[in-house]
Amino acid sequence: MSVKFDETLIMHIKHIDEQHRHLIDLINELEIQMKTSRTFYLIERILDELKKYAGYHFSAEEELFKKYKYPEAGEHIVEHRQFIDIINMFYDEYKNEKESKIILLRGVYSFLYEWINNHMRIFDKQYSKYLKDRGIE
Ligand SMILES: [Fe+2]
Ligand SMILES: [Fe+2]
Repeated sequence: MSVKFDETLIMHIKHIDEQHRHLIDLINELEIQMKTSRTFYLIERILDELKKYAGYHFSAEEELFKKYKYPEAGEHIVEHRQFIDIINMFYDEYKNEKESKIILLRGVYSFLYEWINNHMRIFDKQYSKYLKDRGIE
């Protein structure tokens, strides 16, 4: 089922919402593509995109934590590091052909789905509320 970019996922911080939207588009695209057989080139592109996303998006959030002295930053940053570790693990499985591509794609899909539900809807929502209360535009 595709993920809707609804109120539970909107942080009302413009650049953060644009980046989150990119991740939602990516998972929805992944879902559509998995139903076709074009998985051969897809896995590498998705993993590259996720690596890039982790780079710019986590730095954007962590900069805000610093700027606004977000008290829960430590725990949040640990989650970001775990995301990077898991993407690297998928990369490793892909490069070393430890799993078939379709199994890998399904794994990446479930991981992202969980991430959106648990990290974005809970952890990201929490900091966005904190920042909103402190007047971030
Ligand atoms: Fe986050
Ligand atoms: Fe985020």
